[in-house]
Amino acid sequence: MSSILLVTSSPRGAASHSTRVATELAQKLQAKTPGSAIVKRDLASQPLPHIDADYSSGIYTPVESRSERQQSVVGVSDAIVDELFAADSIVIATGLINFNISSTLKAWVDHIARAGKTFSYGAEGPKGLVTGKKVYIVIASGGVYSSGPAAAFDHAVPYLKTALGFLGMTDVEVIRIEGVAMGPDAEAKAVSSALDLTSDLALAA
Ligand SMILES: Cc1cc2nc3c(=O)[nH]c(=O)nc-3n(C[C@H](O)[C@H](O)[C@H](O)COP(=O)(O)O)c2cc1C
Repeated sequence: MSSILLVTSSPRGAASHSTRVATELAQKLQAKTPGSAIVKRDLASQPLPHIDADYSSGIYTPVESRSERQQSVVGVSDAIVDELFAADSIVIATGLINFNISSTLKAWVDHIARAGKTFSYGAEGPKGLVTGKKVYIVIASGGVYSSGPAAAFDHAVPYLKTALGFLGMTDVEVIRIEGVAMGPDAEAKAVSSALDLTSDLALAA
């Protein structure tokens, strides 16, 4: 069965534009592929633990030699990595928070970046092992970063594309809901353009 992983992370609850647009995109992708399932991972309501010393040592310790705590913290990452591999497409939603992705989404990235599981290093350098996925990044921001004077501060999208690409996820579409703090008209227009784009992307999927 085809599976769509929907990762949401806005700290703004029901007011979140990225959650709304990403959820609609996931539903449209599901409608395009009858029988497919949406797996929800809401990082705002159920944040992942930050990686720590037991995690950083545990991932390099053989399974049978891990302490109880190492097993527990690495087990969280194992489950998140399994969820990622099980997905055919991944819809990732974030608001722009202080010029970057939400901290809960950064914790997710920390849990999916696993040497020997999601990437490997060899004579030819790093190799991403999470291949064959279609990824959609839905990002909402108060300002406009795709062009204009704030483009130099567009850190979130390049960061996410770099991190995902490092793991092998190179087929990435970006849906921006930008300028939502620039007045009610601009906000409504940004959401409606993003929703239109989700329809086009679902059609093309
Ligand atoms: C704590 C906080 C920090 C924010 N930082 C920025 C920022 O650095 N740049 C920006 O353009 N908008 C910023 N915003 C505005 C959000 O990006 C905007 O409200 C967006 O819609 C949030 O995504 P969401 O609607 O999915 O929650 C911030 C909002 C909050 C609540």
